[in-house]
Amino acid sequence: MKRIIIAIDGPAASGKSTTAKRVAEALGYLHIDTGAMYRAMALKVLRAKIEPNDTQKVAALADSTTVRLVNQNGHIRVVLDGKEVSDEIRLPEVTNMVSPVSTVPEVRMLMVKEQRAMGTEGGIVLEGRDIGTIVFPDADLKIFMRADARERAVRRKKELEGKGVTVALDDLERELLDRDRIDSQRSMSPLKQADDAIEVDTTHLSIDQQVEFIVTKANAIIGN
Ligand code: DC
Repeated sequence: MKRIIIAIDGPAASGKSTTAKRVAEALGYLHIDTGAMYRAMALKVLRAKIEPNDTQKVAALADSTTVRLVNQNGHIRVVLDGKEVSDEIRLPEVTNMVSPVSTVPEVRMLMVKEQRAMGTEGGIVLEGRDIGTIVFPDADLKIFMRADARERAVRRKKELEGKGVTVALDDLERELLDRDRIDSQRSMSPLKQADDAIEVDTTHLSIDQQVEFIVTKANAIIGN
């Protein structure tokens, strides 16, 4: 059976991760959270006490970095220079600096190379910002997920509360919009909807509806 490449792009907290994970499970595919890879790089920058906007230092650090996603019993582990960092990459300090770090071309080249290597066999669902435009411009199915900023902030707030963290809704919305701005305005591979991507506005959709929509499209391509 044909094993396809599915690209899911969209802004922060638009529902990509949960949806991509569930779509991958439904199809028996590998789920690749490319944002987690950029977060790992941002964590390294944070630990090295380098300013995220110091492009030269970040680039030099990227040259001596390896970031891998390892599938362990269905759970994706993020491995930075040989050590697991799956939890640390979700720290607010990392979230705050991941967008500037992701603008650095050396960082992007490192990640894109690794992502392409993981996708050679097909049978994968990748989520990120530049999957349908740069990483896999020939992906079999491209989805661009959107949602209102307020709704995205509400979702992020719930997610953080589940981890015992309370953050004001306005602050979350501002942080999301800041990241969207940096991610969409950078010169190298900005967040952008590919011409041939299907837009899915998730503001009023449930996760089940999003998953079903994408799995139906995928099955039509696979021929199920
Ligand atoms: O999906 P996320 O919120 O975990 O992504 C974190 C950041 O990583 C995002 O703000 C920008 C960057 N990123 C990127 O530049 N390209 C990708 N393909 C995925 C994420």
